[in-house]
Amino acid sequence: MTPPPTKVLLAEDEMPTRWYNVLHDLPTPPPPVLHPGTGEPVGPDDLAALFPIDLIMQEVSSDQYVDIPEEVQEVYRLWRPSPLYRAHRLEKALDTPARIYYKYEGVSPAGSHKPNTAVPQAFYNAKAGIRKLTTETGAGQWGTALAFACAQYGLECEVWQVRASYDQKPYRRVMIETFGGTVHPSPSDLTEAGRAILAAHPDSTGSLGIAISEAVEVAAKDPAVNYSLGSVLNHVLMHQTVIGEEALLQLAKVGETPDLLVGCTGGGSNFAGLAFPFLRERWAGRMNPVVRAVEPSACPSLTQGTYAYDFGDTAGMTPLMKMHTLGHDFVPDPIHAGGLRYHGMSPLISHLYESKELEAIAKPQSECFAAGVLFARTEGILPAPEPTHALAAAIEEANRCKETGEEKVILTALCGHGHLDLAAYDAYLSGQVEDHDWSDTNTQAAVAEALRHLPAPAH
Ligand SMILES: Cc1ncc(COP(=O)(O)O)c(C=O)c1O
Repeated sequence: MTPPPTKVLLAEDEMPTRWYNVLHDLPTPPPPVLHPGTGEPVGPDDLAALFPIDLIMQEVSSDQYVDIPEEVQEVYRLWRPSPLYRAHRLEKALDTPARIYYKYEGVSPAGSHKPNTAVPQAFYNAKAGIRKLTTETGAGQWGTALAFACAQYGLECEVWQVRASYDQKPYRRVMIETFGGTVHPSPSDLTEAGRAILAAHPDSTGSLGIAISEAVEVAAKDPAVNYSLGSVLNHVLMHQTVIGEEALLQLAKVGETPDLLVGCTGGGSNFAGLAFPFLRERWAGRMNPVVRAVEPSACPSLTQGTYAYDFGDTAGMTPLMKMHTLGHDFVPDPIHAGGLRYHGMSPLISHLYESKELEAIAKPQSECFAAGVLFARTEGILPAPEPTHALAAAIEEANRCKETGEEKVILTALCGHGHLDLAAYDAYLSGQVEDHDWSDTNTQAAVAEALRHLPAPAH
């Protein structure tokens, strides 16, 4: 008898040619994005200083599908379709009756899911005649992805890398520079937003919110420069749905339907990319998976944040989004999963969480590193610190299945490898990783203070 496969692969001509737009199928529409000055819903003109028209139209579109341009598909084919793995060796180590599958996005040029949206964002900006893109990066994955994407279409790329990450991961800077980008640690003295933070906190470890303020400020001042965001926004989540669309085809090839989907959430894009096509199938009555987001307990926006209008950045330059937030000026502890250190959550994920279409849990980083090490020792892939959160939750469920005897099918997004996160593993292996969690009264006090600064929209 042939053993069940370890890798489920798709041919290049099976790669999805359309992105899925969840807005079309939402049981209830999400609250609008508001202009901070007027309190009115923002229109395309309000976004034109930062984004090209194609992306603005995608942001507000309610079409169910958007065609992926051929020029984008060509670049996607460098690594897509990505493999789906059955985690036989992890299952065996856990002695679980559960069947665990992981969709591996670490095969991309950056080593994560981020190029799935970096490539179309660079493409549409180049098409609009833009010269340069600015951005933030937390894990370094997004900055790498955008630098790679800009190189494909002849754009310049300038990246503000969160200070904690800049110090922990010097090789991310080298990788961004190799692709042709420039990198600054954030907060920097190159922007008003950065100088204001440095004046108040000279030793600031930075945050995604601060780095976003710096990148937005530079883009807003120059019509030839646009800003690019690696998560949170509707069009970003939509670009990531290639992950879930492929996973659906791959699971069908082995005759499986998932009982549980788990993914880590920073701004929500890899999780949404995996989950949204499966939610569509659930709403159509074709399957009924539980969908579970996993966030770090040091930055638990979904499970402990307030559902309110807030800025996407620290300095308060972006439109107001209704989302689960810890307050735009909350600076999370410098945990190793830098990509999960964001004060808010994508409005679409927040809306689905409020509508009880998905669940969320928070995990401390030591449990996640333990899961990452077990995964590396069994499956041979060293995961980025961010998806170790999803792995910890998958392992937790598989252990529950061992107790109950349930043969659940668990699907998780292994959204990136950790080959440039070895300093984090070194810290863990030498016993130097601390847990910063919600039980820490300092964290709670910092969030309570940040929530006092929430903006008050006119509505
Ligand atoms: C490897 C990796 N995973 C997850 C994330 C979190 O982002 P998102 O929730 O948008 O997938 C990041 C962000 O930088 C990342 O680099």
